[in-house]
Amino acid sequence: MKTIVVYKSKYGYTKCYAEWIAEELRCDIKENAALGDILGYDAVICGGGCYAGSINGAKLLTKNLAKLSGKRLILFAVGSNSGADKDIVPFWDKALTPEQQKQIAHFYLRGGFDYGRLNGGDRLLMNLLKARLKKQKDPDEETRGLLAAYETPVDFTDKERLKELLEYVGKE
Ligand SMILES: Cc1cc2nc3c(=O)[nH]c(=O)nc-3n(C[C@H](O)[C@H](O)[C@H](O)COP(=O)(O)O)c2cc1C
Repeated sequence: MKTIVVYKSKYGYTKCYAEWIAEELRCDIKENAALGDILGYDAVICGGGCYAGSINGAKLLTKNLAKLSGKRLILFAVGSNSGADKDIVPFWDKALTPEQQKQIAHFYLRGGFDYGRLNGGDRLLMNLLKARLKKQKDPDEETRGLLAAYETPVDFTDKERLKELLEYVGKE
């Protein structure tokens, strides 16, 4: 099966996972791919960071489903949240329609967060979020973790997290 990994990555976390996947599968890899780059493949693994509930670059698959019919489509989203069921189910329901969820196998991988490296726009958005989070009276563990990450960068990238995705890709 001719496979390619394509990805968009702002701060390198998705890139890291994409490179590990390409290494494991010994397949092609391309950053910022366009439709023409993926048409010649049987399987397309597309990855992007989570930004305010959307997945960077996922439109390459979601907007072109008809043109990609017959291919195996896999999407991985890389975010800083823990991936707990209570967050991840609504996340996928926002990111993909029920039909897209049926046609695209989707996986969540935990990335990281480094406030000090954010560009101006992202910093502004994250400052707004921080102000909101700080108002919470009884923040849960996830929120406390996120607030702490503004001071101390976190990086949860780990090859082990790819197990489920790689097992899925290995299946015919
Ligand atoms: C402006 C902004 C919005 C974000 N929104 C989310 C989000 O909705 N959910 C999440 O889990 N992580 C969110 N994150 C964290 C990123 O998804 C995380 O840093 C990810 O690892 C980035 O991957 P990349 O560097 O490959 O783009 C956000 C980060 C920024 C800067």
